Amino acid sequence: MSMNNTITSTQETTNLPLIEQIKSDFIGLDTYYKIATGETTRRIYMDSTASTLMMGAAFRAGEKFLQHYSNTHSEMHFGAKIATESYNWTHQRILDFVGADPDEYTCFFTGSGVTAGMNRIARALNHYRPEKDIVLVSIMEHHSNDLPHRKHGGKVHHIPVDTHESKMGCIDLDLLESYLQKYDNQVNYVSVTGISNVTGIINPINRVAELAHNYGALVVVDAAQLAAHVPVKMSGYADQNFNVDALLFSGHKTYAPGSPGVVVIRKSFLDDIEPEEVGGGMVDRVYESDYVVKASFPDREEAGTPNIFGAILLGASVDILDRIGMDKILEEDMMLTNKTLSAMHNFDDIVIYGETDTNKCPRAGTISFNIKNMNHGLVAAILNDYYNIAVRNECFCAHPYVEKMLELTHSKQIQRVKEENITDWHSEPWMGMVRVSFGLYNTEKDIDRFIVALDDIIHNKSKYIDNYFINDKGDYEHKSFKFTGNNYFNLRNSISEEIR
Ligand SMILES: Cc1ncc(COP(=O)(O)O)c(C=O)c1O
Repeated sequence: MSMNNTITSTQETTNLPLIEQIKSDFIGLDTYYKIATGETTRRIYMDSTASTLMMGAAFRAGEKFLQHYSNTHSEMHFGAKIATESYNWTHQRILDFVGADPDEYTCFFTGSGVTAGMNRIARALNHYRPEKDIVLVSIMEHHSNDLPHRKHGGKVHHIPVDTHESKMGCIDLDLLESYLQKYDNQVNYVSVTGISNVTGIINPINRVAELAHNYGALVVVDAAQLAAHVPVKMSGYADQNFNVDALLFSGHKTYAPGSPGVVVIRKSFLDDIEPEEVGGGMVDRVYESDYVVKASFPDREEAGTPNIFGAILLGASVDILDRIGMDKILEEDMMLTNKTLSAMHNFDDIVIYGETDTNKCPRAGTISFNIKNMNHGLVAAILNDYYNIAVRNECFCAHPYVEKMLELTHSKQIQRVKEENITDWHSEPWMGMVRVSFGLYNTEKDIDRFIVALDDIIHNKSKYIDNYFINDKGDYEHKSFKFTGNNYFNLRNSISEEIR
């Protein structure tokens, strides 16, 4: 009898679909905090667009690697061989993850996210085709897919996303084409986000590529949000115009905190350009007066000792995502996003920003909103203090896009900012939105709790408003409930516990 039971329970565990095993296996899902009501509750993490939690299985696989940890520039000892092999494997694994042909594309790591990579790509593409001095981005871009092009890429033009079809929706291909026609032969590249970090709107990146290529422009995709949510295929289309030329994503948004940023790009763009960063590891020979850069990728693009452990964690994470199937992950994500959108639509007091008709513009992972007559900072504070729901608020490093959408709800204030030439975003506490975002670990129960919280806030506005004041930093602070981070984690104490 007991043996039968054991067999059944083992079968049950192994029979669980992989997605279910992985969903509940993230570090930080069982984190408890005492909230303003005096209860201690489990945190509901809904800030994945900023950074995702660590995937447990990927972390454990990475920990095993630490038994062999060595520098990849050492060669002859056993650990170094294992480290080099594993580190090389992560590059190949990532090329496969984004559907990039390894003969044509290279993958290299840089910084901790998209930002460092985007600065490098802007400089590289500017060197690659200096005669073309225009870069097209959309108005919905994160600053990291805008400012690097302004500084290093060329003259940047922003494509609007308002069309006759939709209000603040996806990148409009007709509008894009009109810009490509207007600046015919001058556009070096078009750089667009795969998913907006403000609205979760998904852009048709391969159609953007087709159009850009028809006009001789290259295509860069900011996949900071795309990579963990949507299947990506950079190359291998029957019509090669659909292929994407360069794509970047952030390890810390792909379930591997502490891992590097990723650049996947056609090798041919970099072949004749000296790498931006120089130092050890990227040279074949150094003389007193000269040096010879390695011809091989990705070594020539990764000067210095790389973030080996972080790369291993990221390789493990994307491998697991692929084993689950990115199609399945997107399906779940859209189900949660659509469920949240339709529940939020039931409240007259909620304004959701961006096109919400997902038949016109599909969305994944992110929704930004405001509750009428309540400040975004106050709503985020209440969700945290009373519901233990972690969300982000303010402007999400996308000022032009957010400001354009705030015209819907804050036209008078925006006018005042323009008239009085106010340049500091923080000086106006109303400037912003609340952003709720999902990761693989979020469940329908989390959404239900979030909707209960919104309902409560909407029906008890004045009670909550009375409970808070704005502190010296401009943040909403509870009048009586105080949170002390040291009660939960203190690095020095944790170190002491480990060495006791
Ligand atoms: C769409 C998008 N692009 C770029 C970035 C910048 O990424 P990172 O901060 O990892 O460099 C972010 C970060 O939030 C983002 O959401």
